[in-house]
Amino acid sequence: MDLEEIAARLGVPVEEVERVHRLAGDRPSAPLPAKSDVPEMLERLAVRPDDAAEIMAGWPDPDSPLWTPELRWLLDRSIALVRADLGGHGWLPPGPELDRDRGPAWRHLYVYAYLALVDVAMGYHREHGVAADVSWATLADLGRNLAIDRRMDREGWPVMQSWLTLHARGGLYQLGRLQHHRGDSAISLHIPDAGPLTPEAVTASLDEARAFFPRHFPDEHYTTFACGSWLLDPQLLEYLPEDSNIVRFQRRFELEPYEAPEGLDPDVEVLRFVFRSLTTPLDRLPRDTVLRRAVVDHLEAGRHWQWRRGTFPI
Ligand SMILES: CC(C)(COP(=O)(O)OP(=O)(O)OC[C@H]1O[C@@H](n2cnc3c(N)ncnc32)[C@H](O)[C@@H]1OP(=O)(O)O)[C@@H](O)C(=O)NCCC(=O)NCCS
Repeated sequence: MDLEEIAARLGVPVEEVERVHRLAGDRPSAPLPAKSDVPEMLERLAVRPDDAAEIMAGWPDPDSPLWTPELRWLLDRSIALVRADLGGHGWLPPGPELDRDRGPAWRHLYVYAYLALVDVAMGYHREHGVAADVSWATLADLGRNLAIDRRMDREGWPVMQSWLTLHARGGLYQLGRLQHHRGDSAISLHIPDAGPLTPEAVTASLDEARAFFPRHFPDEHYTTFACGSWLLDPQLLEYLPEDSNIVRFQRRFELEPYEAPEGLDPDVEVLRFVFRSLTTPLDRLPRDTVLRRAVVDHLEAGRHWQWRRGTFPI
């Protein structure tokens, strides 16, 4: 099968298949875990029973009719593509977006790739002396993302499939409340959807990172914490009380001058994180928290949200 045929069968642009071919080349893939070990692994990865059942139902057994040659090619080369960048921390789509309604193999192809990479990531963590509980807490973002994607009627996955390659490459670590993402001179902070963002939990997580990176990545020299987020939009101060967690988080940062981000619509991102829906009309969104009322009122007034970047010294 040539690349054009693979692309046609997958229903994706040929350039995206060429990209996979170019980045993965004939580099080594990684085997999937033994099927009998997978239920326990999924539990450790915080995958909920309904998602776990789907993943098991679509398992790429060697004789599974769900797994056509082009899907097997993509799974194998996607694993190789991500593995080839082990230790990297840039944004890395693992392959083309697939039509996930075509069946369980299509729906969870990049989940199977992630499962194959768990062992690879754990090996990388071990080489850096990272404790197993940090590894599992980090990798368990898989289950959280699958659950959110389900809440989002599967609208969330296109971003998540790329996001999760950071975890699989050892590019990001969950230390307490926050995820810490390696970079050049800044550690980027990400805030998982995991309950309130109390100042105490944030401070504890920052303290953990201050000890973690010099110990486990002694060759990397970080001078700042950074964050790019809707949470740093100063317009939120018009709506949220001074003692709200978001306001107190924002106050830690010095904001960079505003530049509209490329390839990202901040209004859509706010809908993603505040309503977990990208397509519900504004007048049908729930107004049950002060933030939700603020988001809708702001957009209804014809205003826009901002995706802001800020930093503070380590
Ligand atoms: C970041 C986050 C944990 C902050 O939540 P928090 O600690 O409750 O924040 P605050 O104390 O500032 O909340 C102030 C108000 O806004 C509400 N609120 C905050 N975040 C909300 C959210 N994502 N959706 C709906 N309401 C939210 C709170 O319920 C509270 O309203 P209330 O007083 O009417 O109950 C939360 O927004 C969240 O889980 N977001 C998803 C992940 C995310 O956005 N990550 C950053 C990606 S760039």
